[in-house]
Amino acid sequence: MKTVVMSVGGSLINPGQIQIEFLKKLKSFVTKNPHKVIIVCGGGYAARSYITAAKEFGVKPVGWDEIGIKATVLNAELLRHIFKAPPVQQKPVDMKFSKVLVCAGWLPGCSTDYDAVLWAKKFNVKEIFNLSNRDYVYTKDPKFFPDAKPLKKLSWKEYKKTISQKWTAGLSTPFDPVASKSAEKAKMKVICLNGQKLEQLDKYLKGKQFIGTVIG
Ligand code: UTP
Repeated sequence: MKTVVMSVGGSLINPGQIQIEFLKKLKSFVTKNPHKVIIVCGGGYAARSYITAAKEFGVKPVGWDEIGIKATVLNAELLRHIFKAPPVQQKPVDMKFSKVLVCAGWLPGCSTDYDAVLWAKKFNVKEIFNLSNRDYVYTKDPKFFPDAKPLKKLSWKEYKKTISQKWTAGLSTPFDPVASKSAEKAKMKVICLNGQKLEQLDKYLKGKQFIGTVIG
């Protein structure tokens, strides 16, 4: 059985309210999928709102990340119970599991995208599925630039030109700069897809045409 690593953006899980319908679809997709799945959960709304509050009080940047990590753990705890999976994992280790492993943030200085890279390395997996609310990676952030164009395939060098290279807690990029550097070095591919359209991930896994961006 192959192992699939998925980085699930926290805004799919909880952008301000827990997305029950998304979680039901994710559960059904993962359960029906023939592969073992490692799900790395982002922090979403909880991470961003708690980090914003910490900044108001002059908390140091490492504290922002530590708070963000706890938000990822909370989201992961919900998923691990939904999937009846082993306890939430933070430090990546090569461990045995039967079907689903749910993971959260580990150390300050990156997002859970980087944790997904670390898990992929541990399991010798060369592809990471990065799920967000967007169909593609775009030339610019489509939230602010309506003329942003979707990109279907790009090298790591090309991708890195589209994002800020400096890490800051709560940073929102399709795949964070720390994770990108590590994935490029490990010659990994990151497939960015819309988590609301899991059928596109299924298409990719079956080698069919799909909606999404391949980096690497
Ligand atoms: P994420 O940035 O991964 O959650 O973690 P998110 O915002 O839900 O992810 P995307 O952008 O939608 O995919 C939340 C915060 O937790 C801290 C960082 O501050 C990060 O912004 N964190 C997370 C770490 O410091 N280390 C980790 O390993 C993971």
